[in-house]
Amino acid sequence: MPDNVSRDIAKQVSGDKQVSAPLLAWYDANARVLPWRAAPGTPPPDPYRVWLSEVMLQQTQVATVIPYFEKFTARWPDFERLAAADDAELMSAWAGLGYYARARNLLAAARAVASEHDGKLPSTEVELRKLPGFGPYTAAAVAAIAFGQRAVVVDGNVERVVARLFACPDPLPGAKPRIRDLANSITPAERAGDFAQAMMDLGATICTPRSPRCLLCPLADRCDARADGRPEAYPVKAPKRARPVRYGTFFWAERDGQVLLVRRPAKGLLGGMRALPTGPWADAPPVLADAPFTADWTLRNDTVTHGFTHFELVGALATATIGRHIASADGEWWPIAELDSAGLPTLFAKAVAAIRRMG
Ligand code: ADE
Repeated sequence: MPDNVSRDIAKQVSGDKQVSAPLLAWYDANARVLPWRAAPGTPPPDPYRVWLSEVMLQQTQVATVIPYFEKFTARWPDFERLAAADDAELMSAWAGLGYYARARNLLAAARAVASEHDGKLPSTEVELRKLPGFGPYTAAAVAAIAFGQRAVVVDGNVERVVARLFACPDPLPGAKPRIRDLANSITPAERAGDFAQAMMDLGATICTPRSPRCLLCPLADRCDARADGRPEAYPVKAPKRARPVRYGTFFWAERDGQVLLVRRPAKGLLGGMRALPTGPWADAPPVLADAPFTADWTLRNDTVTHGFTHFELVGALATATIGRHIASADGEWWPIAELDSAGLPTLFAKAVAAIRRMG
């Protein structure tokens, strides 16, 4: 049997005791204080707050999420209130958190909980998985953190910690099932929610992607990657393919201190969000022929770039001053001085900032 396999099995047999006790002791003393959390070892927090935070934290950093979480819970404090939210208001409030499909699922889930579950989340992973937007991660995280159920919670931080603890040699993303099995092997029956959040905090504050702070780590003496002397080499990653570049144009049509905004089609990228008109995203730099209507457009000497999951967008900026004769253009005229309250997604906020810089 290869060395690393026998070592994995040895850890799986007694892994719980080896890892969870020192980790939970560390968490008791070092847990980050976060607005959706209960203090370590105390009863679980409101499931609504746990769920909302977990949805917001998918792909968004804790520091960015905190003000959004405070704003959302003040405006919509429970499932019933969120279920009754105005879609457009919620989408505007979500601007800046990215991935609008999550916001749409958030509303759909709140409405399902309000109408089919009497305003209360079900408490098991199996039942949670039936709700909109509940993938394996969210269902496990909510079951563990809000309901104290034993569940295996694996996000990016946990993946890194586990890959290092076991010096997992397989590259991501292929290694995911194995890492999940290893995470399962160290998840305790008690305090599963604290354990999950302890792993997240360890990953966020100590077992960081670059320059992990092993001297402060409660698991340093049982970490295979540290024993190998190369903790930052894990998780092993498959070589990255470059993201393709796509091109588009933002059209800034100005009239009497106002700018024309449109709503993007409900389906598709940034669906339902207020935005500047754009041409299609294309494989070649843009042409003014993509403009939403005829005007004296000027292609400006600047671009905005934005990274989406599957492509990098390079956006050109076209501006025009519009006469009254196109007052009937589709969309709404928004006062330029009040653009900050339009709830524009980050990509469009970047375009607005670039145009303002140009004057
Ligand atoms: N990332 C995702 N969920 C989290 C949580 N509950 N605490 C800290 N970071 C997280």
